[in-house]
Amino acid sequence: MLLRRIKCLRYLGTRFNSSHYVTTPIFYVNAAPHIGHLYSAVIADAHCRYQRLRYPEQHVRLCTGTDEHGTKIQQAASLHGIPVAKYCDDISQRYREVFRSAGIQPEDFIRTTEDRHKRAVASFWRRLHTRGHIYSAAYSGWYCVSDETFLTDSQLRLDEASGTRYSLESGHPVEWTEETNYMFRLSQFQDDVRHWVKQEARIRPAKFEKILLDTLSEPLPDVSVSRPSNRVHWAIPVPDDDSQTVYVWLDALVNYLSSVGYPDEEFSAHWPPAQQVIGKDILKFHGIYWPAFLLAADLEPPRQLYVHSHWTVDGQKMSKSKHNVVDPVQAARQYTMEGLRYFLLREGVAHSDGSQTSATQKLHFEFDKTDAGLARE
Ligand code: ME8
Ligand code: MG
Repeated sequence: MLLRRIKCLRYLGTRFNSSHYVTTPIFYVNAAPHIGHLYSAVIADAHCRYQRLRYPEQHVRLCTGTDEHGTKIQQAASLHGIPVAKYCDDISQRYREVFRSAGIQPEDFIRTTEDRHKRAVASFWRRLHTRGHIYSAAYSGWYCVSDETFLTDSQLRLDEASGTRYSLESGHPVEWTEETNYMFRLSQFQDDVRHWVKQEARIRPAKFEKILLDTLSEPLPDVSVSRPSNRVHWAIPVPDDDSQTVYVWLDALVNYLSSVGYPDEEFSAHWPPAQQVIGKDILKFHGIYWPAFLLAADLEPPRQLYVHSHWTVDGQKMSKSKHNVVDPVQAARQYTMEGLRYFLLREGVAHSDGSQTSATQKLHFEFDKTDAGLARE
């Protein structure tokens, strides 16, 4: 009887735990932060502030951080002629500083090169493997280094003149790859993922639920979850097989677990995340792979994904690889960080892209008013 009551209380504790866990994506350290990254962090921070005011008894926990493994980072470091570990330290620090200067105080700033994270990834991998969700296979396909993902033919556009193929979604080039990989049985989780996506208020705004359901209306292929170590050495080794390293997206997604102490039991006090803020560029990874990985590991997927659109410059997504970025440090010098925060939250609309060109002009205008308002207080 007592045992049953304890079990029941424990169940209630996990259902209605007093921890409210909010995350941002962890950002690649292949270049310095721009206002797009700050935007995600400011949204998550604003959500946490609201939650703290509204439910003071709740423990609100914000985690952000940096994603430091994989081909993209390997290449960026060698391009700069800097040892990769040092390169990661430097850029990660810049993210930390920008967020701090913007008044964001996360409970945790996680880096995927930390030991606690490597331990969590190894443990998570073993769990998937033991449960029979991972197998080895010869794999060939188009790999996009910028997006760190394999793509199918229907996701590509061929440029006849150069013979190069590009991702339809991101516009980045792909390269042909043939290798032995470990594969995850994503195909077996299609129905479970669909069920998860369709829950009330799971995916916000609703437009992104529809995009996920469209993807889920086609059969899901299994997904490669490792790369040969001789190609991708800057990565976490696959447990018990160091000829392979863990695919950077599996590695990265597990950060949300590492941050709360997984695999130690303490993680369950915070699990699952109440809200995960992401940009729409990484919807597939968070809306399909991530719940599938978690379900396969018998862990609860997040309660809500909050998806936002992109800041653009002349109609193009602001992005490190396109060199069209607005530096938040510089923008804050001109407009103050308070002004920039206000502007991002005021002008950014989750369901459609915001243009930085008109935005900057507007910021001038809006900011004059804000400034006057602040001076009066
Ligand atoms: O994708 N407008 O990292 P990333 C708005 N490491 N938000 C933008 C943006 C823009 N133009 N550009 C970037 C990765 N963002 C992975 C994530 S998570 C387990 C791993 C924001 O450095 C937005 O949140 O490419 C987007 O999803 C994220 O930065 C991508 O950052
Ligand atoms: Mg990106």
